[in-house]
Amino acid sequence: MTATGKPVSASLLQWYDTHARSLPWRAAWGEAAPDPYRVWLSEVMLQQTTVAAVKPYFAKFTDRWPTVADLAAAPEEEVMAAWAGLGYYSRARNLVKAAKAVAEMGDFPDTEAGLRALPGVGDYTAAAVAAIAFGQRAVVVDANVERVVARLFRIEEPLPAARKAIRARMDEITPDTRAGDFAQAMMDLGSGLCTVRSPKCLLCPLADMCDARTADPERLPVKPAKKAKPVRQGQAYWIERNGAVWLIRRPGTGMLGGMRSLPDDEWSAQEDGSAKPPIMGDWKLLGRVRHVFTHAVLELDVMALDSQQQPVEDGQWWPLDTLEEAGLPTLFTKAARLALSC
Ligand code: ADE
Ligand code: SF4
Repeated sequence: MTATGKPVSASLLQWYDTHARSLPWRAAWGEAAPDPYRVWLSEVMLQQTTVAAVKPYFAKFTDRWPTVADLAAAPEEEVMAAWAGLGYYSRARNLVKAAKAVAEMGDFPDTEAGLRALPGVGDYTAAAVAAIAFGQRAVVVDANVERVVARLFRIEEPLPAARKAIRARMDEITPDTRAGDFAQAMMDLGSGLCTVRSPKCLLCPLADMCDARTADPERLPVKPAKKAKPVRQGQAYWIERNGAVWLIRRPGTGMLGGMRSLPDDEWSAQEDGSAKPPIMGDWKLLGRVRHVFTHAVLELDVMALDSQQQPVEDGQWWPLDTLEEAGLPTLFTKAARLALSC
């Protein structure tokens, strides 16, 4: 049988009523809709990041800033430092901007279009928050949903071209009521049963409506051929004095912009070569760390500089025994760990 709207949503919602994952940003079964602030915060964190990685950050943020007004009043550097380790730091900068906009408006917009106008809120997040927090019918498509829909309807076209057909099919099967539960049920199905590898079709509530089930579902959705990521080189400087290390705050709004870090040669993930001439004076190569970004791999040489060299950039001496509290992004945490092990 081919998947049609009604049996899919009815079967899936029935399954969700007993199998939904219990997650900190969700309302318990039978409870009122969850707080829009918590829904928005979780959906922003969950973009490109796994549920397991998000959980401790969600707990930290809601503990420290229980309402959107609290977050709006927080200094940006504190939010950036609290976000350290989650990656894609423009999300944190937009989080503060959006919180301020919402605080000014008095409350979250309750429509997809209104939500879409907030900084950092794209089509996916607007649809997810409108459906989950406000009970609106919205078509929510993330990577899990993409996989389930591509299999359910046996969409053979490769990504990204297949996205149009996937969205149209998701629109067809999204119910008028409980669209938020339906979207989250698709996500739970995708992460628990309809997994990238070895989908568990025998346990799937949609098995008898699924077109791919007997046609090797693991192949779907068909991925575009992967390009190898370019490898970039950079240098970071470890300058230590009296049990403290020299840290700077990165300028700008680009990648890692606004985050605290070690001084470096202004390597760029976009281009080859460093922006600054090689360092003068005494230095020692401590080793190299590798970090994978979305579009490039960075190989960062960590050099110890003579502590008598006057650090020219604006920055501060940060005590080594509280370095975990500096809010370094993962790349520089790796560099610091390397330096401290030398
Ligand atoms: N991934 C993104 N949003 C999610 C949600 N609300 N529940 C589970 N996984 C998700
Ligand atoms: Fe995915 Fe298998 Fe369920 Fe189809 S039957 S939706 S492939 S888990």
